[in-house]
Amino acid sequence: MKGDDILNIATKRGFFFPSGEIYGAKAGFWTYGHLGTIMKHKFENLWRNYFLKLSENYFEIEDVNLLGEEVFKKSGHLKHFHDPLKDEKGKTQQFNMMMEVKIGVTGDEIMYLRPETAQSPYISFKREFTALRERLPLGLAVIGRAFRNEINPRQGFFRLREFTQAELQIFFDKLDVNFDEVKDYKLRIMNKDVQCSGIKLPKYYVYHLAKIQQFYLEVLGIPRDNFRFRELKDKEKAFYNKIHFDIELKMETLGGFKEVGGLHDRGDYDSKNHELSINYDGKKIYPHVLELSFGVDRNIWALMDILYKEEKERSLFIFNRKIAPVEVAVFPLVNKDGIPEKAGKVYGLIKDEFNSFYDSKGSIGKMYRRMDEVGCMAMLTIDHESLKNDDVTLRDRNSMNQIRVKISNLKETLNKFLDGAELNKLGRLIN
Ligand code: GAP
Repeated sequence: MKGDDILNIATKRGFFFPSGEIYGAKAGFWTYGHLGTIMKHKFENLWRNYFLKLSENYFEIEDVNLLGEEVFKKSGHLKHFHDPLKDEKGKTQQFNMMMEVKIGVTGDEIMYLRPETAQSPYISFKREFTALRERLPLGLAVIGRAFRNEINPRQGFFRLREFTQAELQIFFDKLDVNFDEVKDYKLRIMNKDVQCSGIKLPKYYVYHLAKIQQFYLEVLGIPRDNFRFRELKDKEKAFYNKIHFDIELKMETLGGFKEVGGLHDRGDYDSKNHELSINYDGKKIYPHVLELSFGVDRNIWALMDILYKEEKERSLFIFNRKIAPVEVAVFPLVNKDGIPEKAGKVYGLIKDEFNSFYDSKGSIGKMYRRMDEVGCMAMLTIDHESLKNDDVTLRDRNSMNQIRVKISNLKETLNKFLDGAELNKLGRLIN
């Protein structure tokens, strides 16, 4: 099964593994290993660089994970953030999904681990609005942890109890967008392509659907057929949402399209509940909120699902440079004749500029397979010829073809290769 194969690679090679497994892991809690951590940071940075640049007045903040009871009384989570739970007699009870923490010496003060990062920008809004010269729209983003007591956290790495969200809250009175830029753009909604100009929803909403789709297709490189939006029916919507489309990616390991994020028009629900009125443009207003919400871990799993390939003799992830946790690997062909020393020098030359890995344990074939399996893009081998000619072989993960590259040109060639240049344009193929 593909899902088991990916999980097996993920746990064995250091993408992620059940947290605390030496003591019997609790379901829904995972540790990112050395590769997964790099990949997660790369995803988060792509997200930051893309969504925070949509406006000059969008910023990132960071908050604590534990928030007071009052926050969740006002937000509605204490009352509404429930999942139905059936007992043995078939009676359904509502089960609150927030995790409660007792603090202080007597333990009678209750706080909650935030179930969404969104509450942090809401309770910080007034301070940031003032500090940022009282301009709207104002965007406040958080990339951080959220916690939910999921009743059934079974589906491997998908339904977690502690997870990372990347969420942008856009506070606005009027949200002007450059709609012309997207009016002819076709959105993938369920199984149809729909032109933005033909959608009967607020322009700012449609514009952000387009920006989200472009992030998936153009920045992450997700194939169009693996992407879609799905509008939620009234009874499916989260309790705070007025307009709610999920972002869904098609994952073979989960049997089809599954939610990885959403675009939520929360209206003035949050600003009214938290009493966030401001004087703006000569009047008292409650800012509206448009929320762009993404589950980071789910997106990581989706990338692994979509980019995983099995071939006759190997399995590999066809990650591109933007997300690959290992860009370049360096191997000595044999562990003698001064070759490891030369390989060490090559590694020293590149390691600060590229996500690199050095390996000398095992046969060259096995080292190649291991690096294919983690999606490493370029593999450099130092052999006897390298000692004479001051060069290395560069093997392309996808085609397994190789060229020889002079060490004096190595960084430049690697940059071109990792950015998408074909191997045969960079040198003569040697096999
Ligand atoms: N602030 C809005 C909000 O939290 P949500 O639809 O409940 O909305 C947003 O969650 C995203 O967070 C989801 O689309 C999903 O990617 C991620 N997410 C939610 N629950 C999750 C869980 N138990 N495990 C992993 N990711 C989860």
